[in-house]
Amino acid sequence: MLSVTHLTLQDVHHILDLAADLEAEPVLSRAQRLLKRRVALLFYESSTRTRTSFELAAKSLGADTVLVSALSSSIEKGESLKDTGITLRALGAECIILRHPSSGAPYLLAQATQLPILNAGDGIHEHPSQALLDLRTILTRRLGAKQAQSATAQTLAGLTITIVGDIFHSRVARSNALLLPRLGARVVLCGPEPLLPESAAAIGPNLVIDRNLDRALAQSDVVMMLRIQKERLSGLRLDLEDYIARYQLDAARLAAHAPKALVLHPGPMIRGLELTSEVADGPQSAVAEQVHHGLAIRMALLARALEATKTSTNKTKATVKTVKKSTRR
Ligand code: NCD
Repeated sequence: MLSVTHLTLQDVHHILDLAADLEAEPVLSRAQRLLKRRVALLFYESSTRTRTSFELAAKSLGADTVLVSALSSSIEKGESLKDTGITLRALGAECIILRHPSSGAPYLLAQATQLPILNAGDGIHEHPSQALLDLRTILTRRLGAKQAQSATAQTLAGLTITIVGDIFHSRVARSNALLLPRLGARVVLCGPEPLLPESAAAIGPNLVIDRNLDRALAQSDVVMMLRIQKERLSGLRLDLEDYIARYQLDAARLAAHAPKALVLHPGPMIRGLELTSEVADGPQSAVAEQVHHGLAIRMALLARALEATKTSTNKTKATVKTVKKSTRR
């Protein structure tokens, strides 16, 4: 699970379906699914929501988890990603959840370990599980729980979803901009030139750029606000007062231009910068729901990754037995 581009709409449907099943399954039976399977969380960047929900998701399915974070491990002494991955595999890890500041790091880890890797955010590239939980939030709120598993090219037809802010440095924006249009949504990207280059509209179909927030809001059914990724700006200087004046989502703006829109934010929110507390805590905000959906989505991703490898290990064992039998004969 390195990128949303690897998922077919059928895969997306399967993940949403599995998320709903796992959420509804009794706790004790769910805990048998990945009983004693070993899941490693390898985090080179800080995280609250993603890390905790992956860990709780793995534990809910009965797996044993171990957390390795850059600051308290041999990574600090200079150990490479490849060697760290090989070490985790030698200790019995069957799946690694990776967050890394370099775009593409999960590909390298997958190659080095041959294990299922779940990308928990790589540099400015992608954050697939976030896009899937955002999708589940949008489906549940817009289509209702009954249709929340639907994933066809028409599922989001007629909906306009606006992503606002630091789009260039946001892996959340990229995964969403690659996924949502495939389900029929029209996606508007809104932000100032240094954080949203003109070329962004070319990353996929059904994407348009509108640099005027009020105009973009007036078209929106869903507004996704983003944090300015200050750790990735590499020297870029922003006039924050100007940014706030043009792009902050405050209650007056929301009431005037999008009084019915759903407000999303992947977190962490910087209250007073990209949005005000009134909006973050207001009735249109679905921020806590997003976090809640993260748990079910991540259970589904782990079950999908590990139940598949279990089958292939069993198959390998079966093949070995057959080979032995035939040699005896
Ligand atoms: C995001 C991330 O790390 O990419 N957070 C998250 O995982 N929910 C967004 C951010 O850091 O701004």
